[in-house]
Amino acid sequence: MLILSVESSCDETAVALVKDGRCVLTDQIFSQADLHAVYGGVVPEIAARSHLEVISLLAERALTAAGITRADVDAVACTYAPGLIGAVLVGVNFAKSAALALGVPLIPVHHIRGHIAANYIAYPELEPPFLCLAISGGNTMLVDVRGYTDMHILGQTRDDAAGECFDKSARVLGLGYPGGKPIDDLAKRGDDTRYELPRPYVGQNPYDMSFSGLKTAVINIAHHCEQTGEPLDKAGLAASLCRAVSESLVGRTMAAAKELGYTKIAVAGGVAANSRIRADFTAACEKAGCALYIPPMKLCGDNGAMIGAQGYYEYLAGRTADSRLNAYATMPL
Ligand code: KG4
Repeated sequence: MLILSVESSCDETAVALVKDGRCVLTDQIFSQADLHAVYGGVVPEIAARSHLEVISLLAERALTAAGITRADVDAVACTYAPGLIGAVLVGVNFAKSAALALGVPLIPVHHIRGHIAANYIAYPELEPPFLCLAISGGNTMLVDVRGYTDMHILGQTRDDAAGECFDKSARVLGLGYPGGKPIDDLAKRGDDTRYELPRPYVGQNPYDMSFSGLKTAVINIAHHCEQTGEPLDKAGLAASLCRAVSESLVGRTMAAAKELGYTKIAVAGGVAANSRIRADFTAACEKAGCALYIPPMKLCGDNGAMIGAQGYYEYLAGRTADSRLNAYATMPL
C-alpha cells in the first residue's frame, strides 16, 4: 500500500511516499528554520504561510522523485494534531483535497505517534510492544506502546518540553534558533560538572518530568554572569545542561522499563538527535540488557515518512477520516 504523507505541524513542511509503512520511496522536506531564526523562535503566522507556499510543490517533487504517478497513490495521510493550529490546518487541508481528488482514503495521524513510528522505518524488525520516550520541541512523554495504535502515556512533562528547554537556554547563550544542535555541539567541548543544575522530581507519578526549572536555572546563571562580570563558561553550561536533561530522561525511562518488564526501548523526536542522550541511552541499555532503538538523525526531526509509517498502521486499524477532518492544537495520544 502506497501512502502519500504530509507533515506540517511546526516549522518543517514535508511530503513523503511510504510503502507498507516501512519503505520510504522519498521524503521531501522544506525546513523553515531560517525564516524563524531572526525572531529566536517559531512565528506561527509565518509558519502557516510558508507551509502554504511550498506544500503543493513538495508533493509534485515527491511524485517525480519516486518516479510514480498520482494513480499509484493508495491513500493520503497527514498530521492532524498536535501542533501550531495554523500550520497543521495547511497540511490537513492539502491532504483532504488530495484524497478527494485522487479518490483514496484519508488517514489522520497524531504527530507523536508519527515520531514513534520513525523507528519502524529505521528498524524493520521492530514491532510493539515496547517502551518509547518521545522527546521533541513541543512534547516530552514516556509511552507504553502496546500495539501499533494502542499507546498509553506513563509520564510526561508538567511544563516545558525537553526541546523547548534546549531552545530557550540556547537563546540566552546567544546560540540562535533552533538551539538543540548548537548546545549539543558546544557541550562536546565542555565540562559537564561545571555547573550544578536541578534534577526536578514532580508530583506522585515517578515518570512525570519538568524542564522549566532547569531552563530557569540556566537563564539565571547566564544573567548572573552578565550582571557581575563573572566569566560565563558557555561550553561548561551546555555540557551541564545536556547531562541534566539526559539524566532526567534516561533515569525515568530505564526505571519504567524495569517496572513494566520491557527489554525493548525506543527513543523518538528531534531531541533524540542529542549526542549525550544517545550515548547515555546506549550505555544504560547495554548495562540493563535492553535492546535500544533510536532513529538516525534525519528521522529524529519532523519528517513526512514517519507520518506515512504510522498512517499505514492507522489504516490497518480502520482509522480513516472523511472531508470533515479538522486540525487540533492539542490531542491526547
Ligand atoms: O521533533 P522536532 O523536529 O519538532 C517537534 O515535533 O517539536 O524537534 C525539534 C526540537 C527542537 O527543540 C530542537 O532544538 C531539538 O529538537 N533538537 C535537539 C537536537 N537537534 C534538534 N535537541 C538537542 N540536541 C540536538 N542535537
